[in-house]
Amino acid sequence: MKHTLKTTFAILATAACWALTTPASAQELKPMRGADVAAPDQAPDAKEYLGGKPGGQRKIARTFKDQPPVIPHAIENFDEISLEENQCLSCHGAETYKKKKAPKIGDSHFLDRDGKKLEEAAARRHNCVQCHVPQVDAPPLVDNSFKGDVADAKPAGKTAAKKKN
Ligand code: HEC
Ligand code: HEC
Repeated sequence: MKHTLKTTFAILATAACWALTTPASAQELKPMRGADVAAPDQAPDAKEYLGGKPGGQRKIARTFKDQPPVIPHAIENFDEISLEENQCLSCHGAETYKKKKAPKIGDSHFLDRDGKKLEEAAARRHNCVQCHVPQVDAPPLVDNSFKGDVADAKPAGKTAAKKKN
């Protein structure tokens, strides 16, 4: 019992010291993000997307098999994808790609969910930018040692590279 009392007293004394010293030391804290704890995060500067008008870029090598290739060109003027309109398809679609000298959408894009082959892109591929993304030159937020199976990936080639199958 005596022992417990002693311990309790010691804890109370420590707590009292802590309570007294906290306000002073809190002021000296230097938060790592350089702003007060209560301050809202400062938004980083907006980055510009890389790439110019479609037609002048090299394709970007894929890092693993079945990766949706990233978009090497600018998409500013034709990123509106709506029920009526899809400007990506006006260059990449089955009927237009040759004329526009653009790579044709992947074979998988013509299959509906039952595996039936369609003439044009299946509705489930309509929202292109859900899988294909434009690029910015930004360092990775976190370092990692990921190595893609580049051997299976298509190398960066010239525009409208020939398809194997
Ligand atoms: C004016 C025609 C045009 C439009 C519109 C267009 N593209 Fe492209 N796209 C191209 C051309 C040409 C290339 C080949 C690279 C180059 O020359 O810039 C390409 C390359 C690509 C690639 C790389 C393919 C690969 O195998 O690496 C993807 C993915 C792509 N475009 C997706 C899109 C998406 C998504 C949109 C709509 C937001 C779009 N493109 C709109 C013409 C176009
Ligand atoms: C659900 C994800 C998804 C959506 C949505 C999608 N794609 Fe893809 N795309 C892929 C994947 C994965 C590949 C690579 C494998 C393949 O060809 O299926 C690809 C391949 C491509 C390629 C390169 C084909 C080649 O020669 O290898 C082009 C160009 C392309 N997509 C354009 C588009 C356009 C334009 C749209 C919108 C109409 C679109 N994609 C919608 C996932 C998607």
